[in-house]
Amino acid sequence: MAFRILGISGSLRTSSSNTALLRACANIAPKGVEISLYEGLDKLPYFSPELDTPASVASATVKHLRQQVRGADAVIFSTPEYAFGMPGVLKNALDWLVSSADLMHKPTGVISASPLATGGEKAHASLLQTLTVMTAAIKKEYKLIIPLIRTKIDAEGQLIDPLLERSLATLITDLAATKNASGDQHSHQDRQY
Ligand SMILES: Cc1cc2nc3c(=O)[nH]c(=O)nc-3n(C[C@H](O)[C@H](O)[C@H](O)COP(=O)(O)O)c2cc1C
Repeated sequence: MAFRILGISGSLRTSSSNTALLRACANIAPKGVEISLYEGLDKLPYFSPELDTPASVASATVKHLRQQVRGADAVIFSTPEYAFGMPGVLKNALDWLVSSADLMHKPTGVISASPLATGGEKAHASLLQTLTVMTAAIKKEYKLIIPLIRTKIDAEGQLIDPLLERSLATLITDLAATKNASGDQHSHQDRQY
C-alpha cells in the first residue's frame, strides 16, 4: 500500500505559493508515495473547547480534518507568514487537532515560503513550536524555509527551481522512509526477510 502524505497549506489564496508547493510535491512524489491536499481550512469553525463535543454542529468539518490527519502516514504543512506569525486559520486548525491527538508522533514536514528573503522564518518557528508541543515527529530533514518563492515557481504554480525541487523530493523521501523505520504502518504482520 502506498505511503500516504497529507499536505496542509496555511494559505487560503487561490494562487497561493504554499499551496502550489504542496501540489508540486504531489507531482514529484516517488512511486509508492501519494500526496493529497487537505481542503477545508476555511470551513472550520473558530476553535473553542466548548464546541469540541460529538453533538456539536461544528463536528462534521472538524471530524473530516481529524480523519484526514489520522488516515495519513505523514503530514506536510506549508505556511505563509502574516505579520511575523503563522496565519490564524492554520493555528485554528491546529487547535482542533490538539485534543484529538492525531498529530502525536506523526512524521511531519514543516515548510514556510515567502516572497521575502526571510522565507517566513518566524511563521516557520511558530508553527514548529506548536507542532512540537503537540508531539508531532519532526526531524531536521523535514524542515524547509523557502525565501524568494516567487522566483522559484512560475505564475501557474510550477516549480522552476531545480534546487528547490531536489529539496522537496528529499523531504518527501525522508518522510516516506519512516515507513521502513517503523515497519509497514498499514500492516501488523511481521516483516519478512
Ligand atoms: C497582511 C499581510 C501580512 C504579511 N506579512 C508578512 C510577513 O510578516 N512576512 C512575510 O514574509 N510575508 C508577509 N506577507 C506576504 C506573504 O508572505 C505573501 O503574500 C505570500 O505570498 C502569502 O503566501 P501564499 O502565496 O501561499 O498565499 C504578508 C502579506 C499580507 C497580505
